[in-house]
Amino acid sequence: MKAEDVATVGVVGCGIMGSGIVEVAAKAGLDVVVAELNDEAMARGRSRVEGSMARALERGKLEPAARDEALGRITDTTSVNELAEVDLVIEAATESLETKKEIFARLDEITRPDVVLATNTSSLPIAELATVTKRGDRIVGMHFFNPPPVMKLLEIVRTLTTSDETVAFARMMGERLGKTTVLAKDRAGFIVNFLLIPYLNSAITMLDEGFATREDIDTAVELGLGHPMGPLKLLDLIGLDTAVHVANVLYDEFKDPTYAAPTLLKRMVTAGYLGRKSGRGFYDYGS
Ligand code: 3HC
Repeated sequence: MKAEDVATVGVVGCGIMGSGIVEVAAKAGLDVVVAELNDEAMARGRSRVEGSMARALERGKLEPAARDEALGRITDTTSVNELAEVDLVIEAATESLETKKEIFARLDEITRPDVVLATNTSSLPIAELATVTKRGDRIVGMHFFNPPPVMKLLEIVRTLTTSDETVAFARMMGERLGKTTVLAKDRAGFIVNFLLIPYLNSAITMLDEGFATREDIDTAVELGLGHPMGPLKLLDLIGLDTAVHVANVLYDEFKDPTYAAPTLLKRMVTAGYLGRKSGRGFYDYGS
């Protein structure tokens, strides 16, 4: 299938990333079918989409009519089977290889054989997902950045079996979604997280050693390097559990201590300090 002929996109998972991808696709004029595990998770996902569109409206990035139109294009479901008729699937479920393998095996059974199955994984081996399908040539990474409606980058990740046609299709879809694409090989961290994780780990170590305060570390990066937010604020945005997960995957792949999650980060996750989503991380966000 050609990217310009795609009319309906299926999204699996409506968490922080899934809901952002749903919003991006609906605003780009595509019909979206989004699947979550149960009604409760779906309701949370829907309110994330609505909340983000409300912020876009406040900031003058979206007109009320366009918001209503985009919301009208979204169909939600609690059954992946409802994705049988879609023209492309972007999976953004929880970062567990086993869960993703189950989803890909199911998607391979129910969708048309020509449909590309993409994953938003930030670090897991995409080749493993290809092995549970009969369409290794149509499996590809489409890695969005948080928050997807704002961040302009889309990393396209090709495995050893991904075809040139699928890479071209994914890049073209990225353009239709208003993103700039870059191409990376299927190696842990792709481009961005390979660079980002050692930097974030260093900031945590600096804080833990009492080298500088959290505010000074963040201010230094914001004003000295021109980043929109410093590393500790960014960790709170990404989610500390996600940061540990990505660090573990990178460490497993390269066995380089630079990638290992610092002890403080692991302990914060154990204590339930997950960042913005739990109300507390390196900063306090209230309830
Ligand atoms: N919809 C559309 N546009 C929005 C929006 C929304 N919901 N929310 C904000 N915006 C726009 C604003 O209009 C503004 O645009 P402008 O510059 O043209 O005026 C811009 O986004 C910035 O918004 P604000 O100045 O109001 O600041 P916010 O606090 O709302 O924005 C932020 C915060 C966009 C998150 C910004 O701080 C930022 O870019 N931070 C860095 C985020 C980052 O690095 N993300 C990557 C994380 S790594 C990752 O995802 C990989 C994973 O695998 C771990």
